[in-house]
Formats: sequence, structure tokens, C-alpha cells
Amino acid sequence: MIYSRIAGTGSYLPANVVTNDELARRVDTSDEWIRTRTGILQRHLADPDQVCSDLAHHASTLALDAAGIAATDLDLIIVATSTPDFIFPSTACVLQAKLGAKRCPAFDVQAVCSGFVYALDIADKYIRGGAYQRVLVVGAEVFSRILDWQDRGTCVLFGDGAGAVVLVAAEKPGVLGSVLHADGSHSGILSTPGHVRDGKVTGDPFLRMDGQAVFKLAVRVLDEVARETLALCKMEPAEIDWLIPHQANVRILDATAKRLGIPAGKTIITVDRHANTSAASVPLALDVAVRDGRIKRGHKVLLEGVGGGFTWGAALVEF
Ligand code: UT7
Repeated sequence: MIYSRIAGTGSYLPANVVTNDELARRVDTSDEWIRTRTGILQRHLADPDQVCSDLAHHASTLALDAAGIAATDLDLIIVATSTPDFIFPSTACVLQAKLGAKRCPAFDVQAVCSGFVYALDIADKYIRGGAYQRVLVVGAEVFSRILDWQDRGTCVLFGDGAGAVVLVAAEKPGVLGSVLHADGSHSGILSTPGHVRDGKVTGDPFLRMDGQAVFKLAVRVLDEVARETLALCKMEPAEIDWLIPHQANVRILDATAKRLGIPAGKTIITVDRHANTSAASVPLALDVAVRDGRIKRGHKVLLEGVGGGFTWGAALVEF
């Protein structure tokens, strides 16, 4: 049997940090409101000349270094993003050129905040099927570009960033199992509904959200998909070493852990430092906890994504 395992992780946050107090000078909000409702303390915003593939490039270089794999040896590049550099070519193709990786297939996955879990599931299945041995899986976003900075209900919640893993073929399983779901009937509660037509942006090009509806749905489906994934792997919540849900809001993370009966100390939380970075949030949190030594080889980590679409999914990984 062929399995896949994570050989290296990397992440990147742009240098420009914007605190809640700084935001409160631009829009009618406060540090107190943002902190108590979301747990967010600050976000990193890309420089005007930085695009999604630049962030992805930084994170990917670190992940490749950690894995000890050269970009030229990659068999496949998958980038999960909802804020690509262009309509086309894909950000994965732009990243491939920036990395100097030649000829390997490269494509983007669009599943919004679940994008990384979707991409990991795809990469795992390619490796298990024997098609590829070394796959770069990236989540990268510049959500600051699609935020309405006058809308306090959304602009305080998001930030820019990237995270990456190198997934390689292995004799023993690293990715123990994964489950994906979507329900397009909920597309209206979280969307950026604009599009380009006849050389103009048609419709609303900003992120719009019914926060309470998203909150309720997120907590329910994160619980359901965690249980489904654990059942697939014949494991109990108590056997997990670390839980990494999509880093959207500390209240959602806490509720997810509580419903699963997982002690608070076993949840990796980084949303306080970078806000919601959509598809980048899960690999970012994973990389932080790997590099600070909390996640060690052999640990079982449950990764969970949830976001616009509506999409959700989970992957149980033995690191
Ligand atoms: O990847 C998934 C992305 N989305 C999410 O994770 C969002 C999920 N939802 C949430 O996290 C929460 O619903 C929010 C953080 C967005 C909002 O928290 P809430 O506890 O559901 O607040 P609310 O929407 O019920 O708003 C409460 C009040 C309202 O004022 P009134 O009507 O009570 O006078 C809002 O107008 O807070 C007001 N408000 C704000 N006040 C200060 C909304 N945004 C802000 C703000 N600063 N930034």
C-alpha cells in the first residue's frame, strides 16, 4: 500500500501588522468588541505590490526546505485560494514559475476557507493512487483585497497570509483519512458575488456575510465532519493529540473543541495573531505548532475547514 505523509511545513505572514486599535481609527469598532467577539488581536496585510503567489512562494520555500525537497523534484502543485493573482493563469502556475519548478502539473482549488483541506484530500488521493510522490499543497490568500473597509461587520475579521505543506509518498499512513462536503444552497450567507463582464466588474466585488448564520452552521458542521472523519479512521476524539479547526473565531474554535470533548489546551489557536486568513489558516496554524515544538512526529492532528460555498471538510493526519 502507498500512503501520504507530511514531510515539511511552512508559513508566511506579510510584515505589515494592523492592530484592532488602528482599525478602530478607520471604522466604527473597538479593540474590546473585536477581542471579545472573535479573539482577534491583529491581522497582517499584504503590501500593495504583493500578490497571492508572493505569499504562497514564501510559505512554499520554507515547506520545501523543511522537507528537504527541491522545487524541481515536485510532481504536482495545488494552491487553495479565493483571492488569486488573476482570473487566469492559476496562482499555482504563477507559483510554479516563481519556484523554478518546471513541467509538473499545477492547479488552483476554490473552496474558500475549506480550500486547504480540500487540496490536501486531493493530493493524498493522487499519492495513494500512485500517480505522484511529492506534492506541494498551499493555502494562500490576500483577503484584504476583497474586503469592504467601511463594513465593520466583516473588515475586522480577516487578514492575509499563506501556509504550505509538502506531502510525500510513504509506506505508513500520515493522512489517516479525510472527508469533504459542500452545500451550495447556503451560498448566500458568505460570498463575494461580483464578477467581470464586458471589461467591467459587475455586481458586488466585496465579501458579504451573515455572521450569525455562518457561526451557527460552522459550529454544527465542524462537529459533524470531525466525528465522521474519526469514525472513518476508527478513532475516538480522546485519541487526538491536536485539533486545528479553521482559524476564524476563537468562539467557534472553543465551541468545536467543547462539543467534541477535547480539552481546551489541545486546540491550536493562531487566529489571535493573524485573524481569518481563509484557505491559509489551517496550514498556518499547523506550521506554527510544528515549529514551536507542540506538534511532534507521531502526533495525531485533526485539521478542519469550513467556509463559503458552503464547504467543509476534515483530515486526520499522523504527523
Ligand atoms: O470563514 C468563516 C468566516 N466567517 C466567520 O467566521 C464569521 C462567523 N461569525 C462570527 O464570528 C460572529 O457572528 C461575528 C464576530 C461576525 C459577529 O459576532 P456576533 O456576536 O454574532 O455579533 P452580531 O452580528 O450579533 O452583532 C452584535 C452587535 C450589532 O449591534 P446591535 O445591532 O446589537 O446594536 C452589530 O452592529 O455588534 C455590532 N457590530 C460591531 N460593533 C463593533 C458588528 N460588527 C462590529 C464591530 N465593532 N466590528
